[in-house]
Amino acid sequence: MSFTSEIARRRTFGIVSHPDAGKTTLTEKLLLFGGAIQEAGAVKSNKIKKAATSDFMEIEKQRGISVATSVMAFEYKDKKINILDTPGHKDFAEDTYRTLTAVDSAIVVIDVAKGVEAQTEKLVEVCRMRDTPMMVFINKLDRVGKDAFDLLDEIEQKLHMKVTPLSWPIGMGPDFKGVYNMFEHKLNIFRANEKDKENFIEIKDLDDPELNEIVGDDYADTLREEVELLRGVYPDFDNQDYLDGKVSPVFFGSAVNNFGVNELLDCFIEIAPPPLPKPTETRMVEPSEKTFSGFVFKIHANMDPNHRSRLAFVKVVSGIFERNKNYLHVRHGKDLKFSSPTAFMADKKDIIDEAFPGDIVGIPDNKNFKIGDTLTEGEELKFTGIPTFSPEQFKFIENADPMKAKQLNKGVDQLMDEGVAQLFTLESNGRKIIGTVGALQFEVIQHRLLHEYGAKCRYEAVPVHKACWITGPEKEIEKFKKERHRNMATDKSGNPVFLADSAFALQLMQDKYPEIKFHFKSEI
Ligand code: G4P
Repeated sequence: MSFTSEIARRRTFGIVSHPDAGKTTLTEKLLLFGGAIQEAGAVKSNKIKKAATSDFMEIEKQRGISVATSVMAFEYKDKKINILDTPGHKDFAEDTYRTLTAVDSAIVVIDVAKGVEAQTEKLVEVCRMRDTPMMVFINKLDRVGKDAFDLLDEIEQKLHMKVTPLSWPIGMGPDFKGVYNMFEHKLNIFRANEKDKENFIEIKDLDDPELNEIVGDDYADTLREEVELLRGVYPDFDNQDYLDGKVSPVFFGSAVNNFGVNELLDCFIEIAPPPLPKPTETRMVEPSEKTFSGFVFKIHANMDPNHRSRLAFVKVVSGIFERNKNYLHVRHGKDLKFSSPTAFMADKKDIIDEAFPGDIVGIPDNKNFKIGDTLTEGEELKFTGIPTFSPEQFKFIENADPMKAKQLNKGVDQLMDEGVAQLFTLESNGRKIIGTVGALQFEVIQHRLLHEYGAKCRYEAVPVHKACWITGPEKEIEKFKKERHRNMATDKSGNPVFLADSAFALQLMQDKYPEIKFHFKSEI
């Protein structure tokens, strides 16, 4: 197959949802369709069970399992599909944000009863930042939930996205009859006791009396009225608008019953984008360029506790990645070659000889990589757009064993490279502050420092409300730094960060220094 056809047939995407909406179930059903797994239950949930949230060893164990499902690739109707898994647990949200930089599109799963939940809002916001095309799957229609029109309104309002339903539910809960696919003019009939089977009946014209025979007069009439209403309210589906991230098609179904999944997948492979161009600091890189380039969006440590191994996940942006070929590690300015790059096929990994744009390659890493690193065939490119968000929790990190200061510094350095947390150094006295998205990371860091680096740390409370990166005219920045000397720090790359101790203090400074921009995210 030609290089261009290989690119054109790839679809690399992520499924995002609030925990429990059905992401794992949907992923599994997609893999079943692709023949990548043979039976339900084969995909280990990447979800960290609520009961275990205080037991971080359990979480690490589950994360260990979930690395196998970090990328799930399969073939379906001549397309090569790469699903990038995104942890739903909010304490690992940064992982998810970064993974979303490697997807070309996303499927958002929403629970019909719960509607738009907090984590969904955040994740969709990250997708919107890069205009990632999104499809919505409203799940659990076998249960009583919100009215479909209300849900679409809620999605538009809370997720700030325009939607166009491509399928429409007929009843719900115990009265769920099925969905009408407006894209293909087909009725998909739901039979609760016939799992894993879809019954499609073509109904080109909704006035066809066959509709009444199948779903009953009342439901047939309601469907006709609702579809007419929909056509008046929502625009016709426009593929380009979807590709530009301006409108999201919506599907209804029930993942656990494998209902509506097939039509979602069939539409997805039709409309979702192949690998997209990606910006660098200097230029846009097109997937069709002959020379290879890629970037690291995730590093997974402790693949095997006995070997302290790390795996760097590289998204191929352009060209063909080849095993044992020299590539430039742009940040280090040195050539590296990789003898055992792996690809992921559902629940197993295999050594590969080559990979194409859109593919994810796992590279065993001897602490050479950090998140955001670029690999090329020689050109000094640096991919942009990998965000770092302002952490939500802060603590001073102190050395608890003076004999092991070196080990502690090394450990902290490497854990930060992996993206476990962020490090800020106070300008006034050089004290170090760890900032994380969730409380769990503090425990994870302490444990890993001890077990992997032989270093002990302790934490002390620090009254930081928010960390924000500041930019603006040099003179203003200098003035600001002088005034807020006590609250100024630098991040790992040396950028100035203001650690506001309260929302009030932040507002005060924003008012006083209108020429300074306060950023709540920075790009690696
Ligand atoms: P997540 O990855 O988004 O966190 O969700 P997951 O797929 O694990 O699904 C969360 C729960 O919702 C699971 O039940 C799953 O079986 C259920 N579920 C998924 N899709 C549907 C659906 O279409 N209808 C209904 N009624 N339930 C659905 P659980 O009891 O938490 O776990 P399990 O014991 O069933 O695995």
